[in-house]
Amino acid sequence: MTTTTAARPIDQDTSSAPLRVSVVGTGYLGATHAACMAELGFEVLGLDIDPAKVAALSRGELPFHEPGLPELLTKHVQSGRLRFTTSYAEVGAWADVHFIGVGTPQKPGETGADLRYVDAATRSLAEHITRDALIVGKSTVPVGTAERLATLIADTRAENNLPGAVELAWNPEFLREGYAVADTLCPDRLVVGVCSGHAEQVLRRVYAKSLAEHTPWIATDYATAELVKVAANAFLATKISFINAFSEITEAVGGDIGTLADAIGHDPRIGRRFLNAGVGFGGGCLPKDIRALQARVSELGLDRTMRFLAEMDDINLRRRDRVVDLAVQVLSADQGHPRRPANGGTGHTPDPVSVQVLNGAKVAMLGVTFKPDSDDVRDSPALDVANRLYTAGAEVAVYDPKGNANAAARFPRLGYVDTCEAALTGADLVILLTEWDQFKALDPAHVGSLVARRNIIDGRNVLDRRAWQAAGFTHAALGHRFDPGH
Ligand SMILES: NC(=O)c1ccc[n+]([C@@H]2O[C@H](COP(=O)([O-])OP(=O)(O)OC[C@H]3O[C@@H](n4cnc5c(N)ncnc54)[C@H](O)[C@@H]3O)[C@@H](O)[C@H]2O)c1
Repeated sequence: MTTTTAARPIDQDTSSAPLRVSVVGTGYLGATHAACMAELGFEVLGLDIDPAKVAALSRGELPFHEPGLPELLTKHVQSGRLRFTTSYAEVGAWADVHFIGVGTPQKPGETGADLRYVDAATRSLAEHITRDALIVGKSTVPVGTAERLATLIADTRAENNLPGAVELAWNPEFLREGYAVADTLCPDRLVVGVCSGHAEQVLRRVYAKSLAEHTPWIATDYATAELVKVAANAFLATKISFINAFSEITEAVGGDIGTLADAIGHDPRIGRRFLNAGVGFGGGCLPKDIRALQARVSELGLDRTMRFLAEMDDINLRRRDRVVDLAVQVLSADQGHPRRPANGGTGHTPDPVSVQVLNGAKVAMLGVTFKPDSDDVRDSPALDVANRLYTAGAEVAVYDPKGNANAAARFPRLGYVDTCEAALTGADLVILLTEWDQFKALDPAHVGSLVARRNIIDGRNVLDRRAWQAAGFTHAALGHRFDPGH
């Protein structure tokens, strides 16, 4: 059963009492969802197993960076509409709707999704809910998970003979870090996997404002809802890797990757978004989600179905090798070493020539988060490249407007500095890998006055090549053939 509608009147409200909402897991997704639910007028109780996170949120302090979210958090913590707890008993006795937003990371040493957090959160809710309630999964999960969890809920409640009818729905989340508040308050579509009209009606009450604004509403079964999310991420990852595969061609034969993307992007069937050539995708979603999808279809005996995603993953990871290789080429040219061939064997294990060139080189690493306007460094291409250069002997000075603390927690041995100027001062090579506005606006003459050598790699294709060359920089960029003369 799938229904797709725009604003249908909220005609089946079964109760006039306002819904009480809990959000289980208050990380990037959950804290945003909780604050936005409060903004929509609901009483909200956020739950996390991390007491430090709950304490910070209860004080109105956001433990991560997300534009616009601190204001919402403060506003609704102060009004008392938004509270936080570590107690499942408290949320179980209180809320009508429980959203689950716990993490589903990649399993250590494997490609599949680690479902232990989502399983634990579901079981805890099932054990502690003492009234009628709807549990709504928002985490990204492999297809088949919701059906399994619905059985887990039913069995747990029957074993413990608990009062109240509890149902499960799946409502995948599409928010983008950096735009999370706007994406949550004004989503471009709402997808709900339900197995009863009642569950759909409860969710229609939750999302009444979006429905009144004609947001497309897709009510379907569990499997479709789960697959919509991973299909969207697989498509986006493919689009990025597609243009980056063409980067490998333009790097070899010449041509302008940006013009190519613009030209094909004019075709409305293709579209220009997600066609920016660069160091590729990272973060807490796309990489692990395409790997989890491959692992899941393999479990289903459909190994060949998503095999192309392994290629997309490879293309993506090769971009990181390419940055390391470009660093070696740029520094070789500057140091007067014979020019190394492109893709000459750098990567995880630097070859002896690369080590010789990189050893002691001062590299200013601009950006370490996986994208701008976030402090998230999970599977960040920039952080991976910084670590590889460090491992090969470079002195790496990392500056990111928001990501230094998270990066330092993962790779403490890199050098972290508090200003862009500090990173640039005395650098032999500048590498831009996260397209923060601050870096896009850098003045080549000012940068030239700080660095030791005028070398820059644009890993996101956001700098004006001519302006940097005019200021005397050797400019290299992903998707462009490197010409040591410029
Ligand atoms: N971050 C995004 O942009 C985004 C976007 C769409 C979907 N998602 C999906 O949302 C889910 C959460 O992602 P995230 O980035 O918010 O992760 P996160 O790591 O920032 O947050 C997860 C939170 O869950 C808590 N937690 C773990 N086990 C728990 C339990 N048993 N009970 C209560 N809390 C528990 C953790 O302490 C943590 O605070 C993932 O499935 C992810 O794929 C994330």
